[in-house]
Amino acid sequence: MTGERTQVAIVGGGPAGLLLSHLLRARGIDSVVLEARPRDRVETRQRAGILEHGTVDVLREVGAADRMDRQGLPHDGFELRFEGRSVRVDMAELTGRNVMIWAQTEITKDLIALRLDQGEPLFFEAVVIAVDDVDTDSPRVRYRYEGAERELRADVVVGADGFHGVSRSAIPASVVRTHERVYPYSWLGILADVAPSSEELIYARGSSGFALGSMRSPSVTRAYIQVPNGTDASSWSDDAIWDELEARFALEDGSFTLARGPVTDKSVTAMRSFVGEPMRHGRLFLAGDAAHIVPPTGAKGLNLAVADVRVLAEALGEWYSTKDETLLDAYSQTALRRVWRASHFSWTMTTMLHRDPDGDPFEEQLALSHLRLIEASESERRTIAENYRGLTLHGV
Ligand code: PHB
Repeated sequence: MTGERTQVAIVGGGPAGLLLSHLLRARGIDSVVLEARPRDRVETRQRAGILEHGTVDVLREVGAADRMDRQGLPHDGFELRFEGRSVRVDMAELTGRNVMIWAQTEITKDLIALRLDQGEPLFFEAVVIAVDDVDTDSPRVRYRYEGAERELRADVVVGADGFHGVSRSAIPASVVRTHERVYPYSWLGILADVAPSSEELIYARGSSGFALGSMRSPSVTRAYIQVPNGTDASSWSDDAIWDELEARFALEDGSFTLARGPVTDKSVTAMRSFVGEPMRHGRLFLAGDAAHIVPPTGAKGLNLAVADVRVLAEALGEWYSTKDETLLDAYSQTALRRVWRASHFSWTMTTMLHRDPDGDPFEEQLALSHLRLIEASESERRTIAENYRGLTLHGV
């Protein structure tokens, strides 16, 4: 077995792990990033693409924002549709901040390229088998790379390997409290080579369920419809998807027209909320999807992962420079405050905009009443806008 040592071993080379490696480097802290999948798989994974202001700032801070600044689309507002009407939530006016549309895949590509340009350690197809000794001051990651089993010792291990990764299981079940909600519907998502039908995102509660109109660029549409759990994406024809989008986005005055074009990708995403507490055990710290999952409505997943690693990088920086553990000890609690805010917001958006297939009429009326309140009340719109564009790093 080949042995190596670093200061921080990072399990997972998605946006959380990669960004952490850059934030640590800026503080003079060495790290090694181990990613199980091949590089092209990491670089093609489709995920939501709404960046809060704080996320935009940190990408600029690490020097991975050139393409985002040239090609990303700043959005000042978004639309909610229900009962054939439209309500615009003007984030810029209500909160003084906007969001950036820039796909997670593009961020990942830039973070990888920067890391490799710097000649810093990042290994693909390095499959972690176990994380152990986390309750000692020299935790160990065992992994398989190029046919051999290796081990990496570190001062600290960060598990940023997602919900299905191994890091999570290194925290004994007896000390973790899990909170979970599986939603009774999924999203069927498409990418299409056609200009978006609207300049801003549209979140609709249509009579047969949720629809979202989004985009990847001025010439690429991203759109989703609510479908039953277990749906096979190939069972939906392109025409049937466009017809459903058109019906769910329809306005009562007939003023909306949907632009259709060639569909280049089709996939189904399940909807889940999950929080594991605490996010730390001994010298193991979890970040991003390894610690929590939000449903995609509101696009908080990436922003939460970025917020986690910002808090963690600051805490590790403090610990390495002064040996003061206060921030590290507070990591889980600090991160979880934001996680719970985003979990509540994502749950609110999800339940307000989807149709429960087992349709409890009481909940349906509550959802419609909430949408009408947003339509009528500026303070309610401000609350939605503040949550959407993201609250402050150490805020609620
Ligand atoms: C997306 O563009 O993929 C997207 C946008 C907004 C969401 C979720 C997904 O709330």
